[in-house]
Amino acid sequence: MDGLARRYLEVRRQTDGLAEPLSAEDCQAQSMPDASPTKWHLAHTSWFFETFVLPGPPLEPSFQYLFNSYYDAVGPRHPRPARGLLTRPSLDEVRRYRRRIDEAVLDYIERGVEADVRARIVLGLHHEQQHQELILTDIKHLLGGHPDAPSYRRGSAPAPRARATGAPPLEWIARPGGITEIGVAEPVAGGEPFAFDNESPRHQVLLRPHAIASRLVTCGEYRAFIDDGGYRRPELWLSDGWAEITAQHHDRPMYWRGQTIFTLDGERALIDDEPVTHVSFYEADAFARWAGARLPTEMEWEAAAAAQPIAAHDNLADSGAFHPRSLPADSAGGSAGLHQIYGDVWEWTASAYAPYPGYRPAAGALGEYNGKFMCNQLVLRGGSCATPRSHIRASYRNFFPAGTRWQFSGIRLARDA
Ligand SMILES: [Fe+2]
Repeated sequence: MDGLARRYLEVRRQTDGLAEPLSAEDCQAQSMPDASPTKWHLAHTSWFFETFVLPGPPLEPSFQYLFNSYYDAVGPRHPRPARGLLTRPSLDEVRRYRRRIDEAVLDYIERGVEADVRARIVLGLHHEQQHQELILTDIKHLLGGHPDAPSYRRGSAPAPRARATGAPPLEWIARPGGITEIGVAEPVAGGEPFAFDNESPRHQVLLRPHAIASRLVTCGEYRAFIDDGGYRRPELWLSDGWAEITAQHHDRPMYWRGQTIFTLDGERALIDDEPVTHVSFYEADAFARWAGARLPTEMEWEAAAAAQPIAAHDNLADSGAFHPRSLPADSAGGSAGLHQIYGDVWEWTASAYAPYPGYRPAAGALGEYNGKFMCNQLVLRGGSCATPRSHIRASYRNFFPAGTRWQFSGIRLARDA
């Protein structure tokens, strides 16, 4: 079998596996406008291959409208906040649609496809991996709002008692100033090694000497910020952030409930040594100011991460933990002296999501994939415990609006030298 076909099947089966513990009712509901039903994710990722890869007319013409996410050049679409109201097609019908798309794509690969089509299939697989992460964060938001705080993994034992390990002390890793390069060269025909268009072109940036924290901020450290009146002191907050926590009555990270925390394994004790997660950019920024530090820029982050490859023990989705892990006190840092660069939580940076110098979006509807969102969002780096290992790299730029909390987002500090 063609290597691309094998890879296609592997990614598609991983998506099906994520929906496996869920009932049809779980897959139907939508907890908020930002989150989508699992059923919609299952259908939309198939719609992507049908729209951008397969030749010929669509298998189900009405799905063109129902499962288009945001591609204006493709045509009109069903409104995002009302995705949970799509009780038809049924979950079984969506699963059959997935199988028909699989047959068509595999048949197409087998007949031999040009480099540009292969590149769009690879793009479709990375798109699908992005939705794998969203399936987990969206279902967490749904189950987290249920009075019983149920586990995502039905029938599994009660949430394991996470162990306190005594995280190693936070160290400041000195980083040099000067001209360095970040980003990737223009994508090559065939699409591998893969990068999204927003990661290129590779270009020079000027860094000032600075230091970056050796590990993520923990729940215990974040609790000290709360106990010190962090949420009641306007001098610690950006104006928009203060307005947001006042309007939303935020006084702790999402999913914290007193001394307990809601996880994809249900509710359990809050562990001080675990990385804090489900904080907004505003909360990350206020914490950093309280700690006498700041958030790293995405240029500083990438320059530091590029020296350190993904490690076998990094906690990405493949570990199956689906929650950030405590760092053992005796952990050795990677080659750059850094812990938890990949996985655990997406790290908010101080950088606005903007085009790199010389950025050109792809031609046609696929040019809408990343480029049109380069306004009013912040960059996050490094992947999370819900990100597939084969989906992350040093140059990867995730992006969300500053108030976003339902993703696995956390904090790494930096400071000027
Ligand atoms: Fe999508």
